[in-house]
Amino acid sequence: MKHADLLVARRRGFGGKNSEAGTLFLRRTFRGTSSTEVRKEIILSSTSSKVPHGVLAYIRKNNLYLCSACSWLRKNMSRARFAHSFKAAKLAAKIGAEIGMDSSQAAAAALLHDAARDLPLRRIVSLTAPLRIPLKKEIIRREPLLLHSYASAVIAEKRFGIRDREILDAIRYHSAVSTGMRLLDKVVFIADFYEPGRKTGKIKIGRVNKSNFNNLFARTLKRKIEYFKRRGMWIHPETVKLWKENM
Ligand SMILES: [Fe+2]
Ligand SMILES: [Fe+2]
Repeated sequence: MKHADLLVARRRGFGGKNSEAGTLFLRRTFRGTSSTEVRKEIILSSTSSKVPHGVLAYIRKNNLYLCSACSWLRKNMSRARFAHSFKAAKLAAKIGAEIGMDSSQAAAAALLHDAARDLPLRRIVSLTAPLRIPLKKEIIRREPLLLHSYASAVIAEKRFGIRDREILDAIRYHSAVSTGMRLLDKVVFIADFYEPGRKTGKIKIGRVNKSNFNNLFARTLKRKIEYFKRRGMWIHPETVKLWKENM
């Protein structure tokens, strides 16, 4: 950066002065768009009306913004699971935008949250072999499919090069939810439950905003626990602990 000047195009409604050395602001303002919007569009549709053709070609050629992820997911997931992930990504992006967080981050995490879900169970367990997971032996004995979220995070990191810890955590904890969940973890958890293609998605999510978000999360957690109970499934003790904290 020592050897470069930054030429900055302002977006309408955003300020900025020639205050920093090496930064020059263009006089006019430009059409409102944002890198978050572009990333979100490309993650959800592999295209964007907001960038020139050459830029889009470069993004595709270099597999930026998860361009290669969709084809891998299509090959390694059932059609229904792919549709579920895609709808969850759309919903997560929408919720993310409503509560003022990076919607492209939410879309990426939700798109990949079930990456390993349709792999053979042996493969899921082997992907998680190097990981230290609390109560791992008990999970394997009682509800081994819970490990698919950890395996999905491994795929996101190793295959798609995701380095964003928040995205990886949101993928990792969507099935074995636990205390200390952060905003993105909760967004993915909610989108996974309410995406409209799911049976549980018949329950309408309603309007989401910053003030009702935590209530929505608590309600979703309660519904998920009820679902586990109805199916006679083992529930991770951390999930029970979180539920009690949110009652
Ligand atoms: Fe899952
Ligand atoms: Fe899911």
